[in-house]
Amino acid sequence: MTRILLTGGAGYIGSHTAKRLSQSGFEPVTLDDLSTGHRWAVKWGPFVQGDIGDQKLIREVVSEYRIQAVLHFAAHAHVGESIVQPRKYFHNNVVQTLKMLDALVDCSVKHVIFSSSCATYGDPERVPIAESHPQKPVNPYGESKLMVERILHWYDRAYGMKAACLRYFNAAGADPDGEIGELHTPETHLIPLVMHAAAGAIDAVSIFGTDYPTPDGTAIRDYLHVYDLADAHVRALEYLLNGTASIELNLGTGQGHSVLDVIRAVEQVSGRSVPARRTERRAGDPPELVADPSRARKVLDWRPRFMDLRELIQTAWAWHSASRNPE
Ligand code: UFG
Repeated sequence: MTRILLTGGAGYIGSHTAKRLSQSGFEPVTLDDLSTGHRWAVKWGPFVQGDIGDQKLIREVVSEYRIQAVLHFAAHAHVGESIVQPRKYFHNNVVQTLKMLDALVDCSVKHVIFSSSCATYGDPERVPIAESHPQKPVNPYGESKLMVERILHWYDRAYGMKAACLRYFNAAGADPDGEIGELHTPETHLIPLVMHAAAGAIDAVSIFGTDYPTPDGTAIRDYLHVYDLADAHVRALEYLLNGTASIELNLGTGQGHSVLDVIRAVEQVSGRSVPARRTERRAGDPPELVADPSRARKVLDWRPRFMDLRELIQTAWAWHSASRNPE
């Protein structure tokens, strides 16, 4: 059994990926400090509670489970928060990651899949965004992800550590079987907040900015189902384990949807109206982020299953409304 370490495996994307790994014959071993992840989301393999910067622990886990590769999800991931608390982002996402990578070098772990982000591109000069687009982050979150990409580049050259840097666009949706879903506290992401407004759990959702240079004035994002994102991780892992070179890949659908499109789709799926209020732009938000995913399609032979926004939202709505939220 090939055992894979998932840092942040109790989180939203990590836990969905653990399920796909397990279905594909790998054994996911989750390391998570549970600062934002959930113990209930770890269902498909062993769980170790701890810190990615604890080098002794990393060495012990690698040796005990004979870890072959690491999927590094653990990070702080809120663009707005990163603007006001950059030290939190650089400390956790860069300093702690570096400690973990050094422990992996010590243990001769040579394969890393890194959760990078479209936030590394900043305000795009052109959309859709290909991997060759200049990377000029406009917030500390994106900057922290780019720093790790650069570290991985040099660790490949010096130590032969092969990395797949997966630049996610907006992960959304829930496990189509309803076993796990998205739960952040506090919630800051658009789709869950729109669903909360539809369900009456909050008074209204705020629309951050209605004066963007987009057709309806609201910001456009590329919402990729977490199932498809998880699937791409398994394919990227198989790609690396086959002995291929390091790679950077955009993971998105190639389709953009505005904030108003999302609100309308949730109204259609839920059959309820969504109270919304128009507010100022949120600092650090680019107007439009849409992937050109052709490289991932070609290299990984990957095709997203959820290309329809309403189908994606349907899975999230089903999970939320079934009250499977165990907390
Ligand atoms: N938005 C609102 N109202 C809200 C919340 C969000 O209008 O209450 C808007 C945002 O301004 C943005 C869009 O909805 O235009 C999506 O916002 P999210 O907070 O759901 O997602 P982000 O695009 O900010 O962030 C996501 C991931 C990050 C990642 C980033 C890359 O959560 O980890 O995409 O841009 F870095």
